[in-house]
Amino acid sequence: MTTSISESGAEPGAANPPPECPAHAAFAQGAALTALSGAEAQHDPRAVYEKLRAEHGGIAPVELEGGVPAWLVLGYRENMEVARTPRRFTRDARLWREWTEGRIAADDPLLQLIGWRPDVVSYDGEEHQRLRAAVNECLARFDRHGTRRHVQRYAHQLIDGFVEDGRADLVTQFAVYLPMLVLSRLVGLSEEHGPKLVEAIVGMVSGGEEAYAHNQYIISTLRSLTEERRRAPAHDLASWFVQHPSGLNDEEVLNHLRLVIVLGYEATTNLVSNTLRMVLTDPRFRASLAGGLMTLPDAVEQMLWDDPPLLVCPARFATHDLQFAGKEIRAGDMLLLGIAAGNVDPEIRPDLDAPMHGNRSHLAFSWGPHECSGQEIARAITDTGVDVLLNRLPDLRLTVPQDQLTWTASTWSRHLDALPVTFAPQRRRAPQRRRAPQSAPAAPTASAPVEPSAAKAALAAVAEADAQAKAHSRGGFRAALVGLFRRRR
Ligand code: HEM
Repeated sequence: MTTSISESGAEPGAANPPPECPAHAAFAQGAALTALSGAEAQHDPRAVYEKLRAEHGGIAPVELEGGVPAWLVLGYRENMEVARTPRRFTRDARLWREWTEGRIAADDPLLQLIGWRPDVVSYDGEEHQRLRAAVNECLARFDRHGTRRHVQRYAHQLIDGFVEDGRADLVTQFAVYLPMLVLSRLVGLSEEHGPKLVEAIVGMVSGGEEAYAHNQYIISTLRSLTEERRRAPAHDLASWFVQHPSGLNDEEVLNHLRLVIVLGYEATTNLVSNTLRMVLTDPRFRASLAGGLMTLPDAVEQMLWDDPPLLVCPARFATHDLQFAGKEIRAGDMLLLGIAAGNVDPEIRPDLDAPMHGNRSHLAFSWGPHECSGQEIARAITDTGVDVLLNRLPDLRLTVPQDQLTWTASTWSRHLDALPVTFAPQRRRAPQRRRAPQSAPAAPTASAPVEPSAAKAALAAVAEADAQAKAHSRGGFRAALVGLFRRRR
């Protein structure tokens, strides 16, 4: 069995480097490192990127939490080059000099995000091609209409959970759940797993003492699913992974299921929230939609330019000493793709107000061999989910002024805390008739169509998770959601 850096607990693993450390100084070539996790970056990450761009150009030395040095790629073209040239900039974290030289503690939460794992993200070359073929071919089996049908069903269920109240928070009652319900269904998990998995993923990416335990919960849930599907395949991603001709072993299957859920969930939640915010706050947008000047998919693309779900994407590692964008990069240096910074590079977007909708050449899903495999699923969840919501509640109104909306940002992403709305209360939809499964019969817990009351059940489970979290003095489930991606200081 292959062991990942983040699970080995073995050396290397001392403490993170103090700023006066010689390796740290050599990295910055004398320049001070700008903290990507400091108060300023969390309050207004874009302002920090622009300052760095003015000072350094296309690539700047920065510091992650714990004083870990890295290069942040700011230019659009530079991001493209790093993403598309694995010969010079590999995804393989086993080359990461900070780690090989023992400056990253074995329990550093950064390893959960950046550490090497036996999955498609961590390899380049032939092994990457083998794993990527499996991931892409299996994801492609969800035909467009099938995915949209699931999204519609879950969107309606979630809306049924609050439609009679005349008010809702579209972040914590809609955007946070829709992607997880859809992804859990695609992966093959039963719906009851949705809320618990959200909590575990939030806990894992938030870092802190419980990150390891949350990761273990996710792994053990997916391990059971993998074993079950080896015995009795169904119509879901777990079954297609175990059956794929590339011969994924159990460890590879569960690591890729984990990857789909963890990567897909947080980013898609951000995209749904951001798109809803735009719909509710930008009058030009609503008028363009209503007047047929812009479609919802166009609007989603505009969001992927202006407010990408991931601000910064970890990580590439220089394969050898090299010069890049005027900087001396040493073998093993970490480079971060600055997606948000690259998308507004003045070289390619001199006028940020010029509409970009319909143009898909943004960096939100990256480029090159590791370009996001699930982008069509993310788009389907977002535009179908928002469409269902707007159709059912056309009179949605934000209850707070736009400038009172708040975000929580980390090095990697920025998400809306809440989107409180009102609307004329409506009746819930009549219960839908069950549909027959489309192809291979599914295990009853995973793929059987659910009753419309599932939304109520999901929300009840959320309430229970909330109560449990409070009982354990962890600040509550909602607080954990708000703290998504906020990492240990
Ligand atoms: C709006 C939502 C999403 C965004 C913004 C997003 C963005 C990204 C980015 C930036 C990468 C890294 C590329 C790189 O390292 O160069 C990536 C990789 C990946 N994403 Fe997504 N993603 C989203 C949703 C999803 C979903 C829903 C799935 C699965 C259903 C998914 C599956 C993957 C996989 C498997 C990879 C690894 C590909 C590889 O390394 O070859 N993503 N995504």
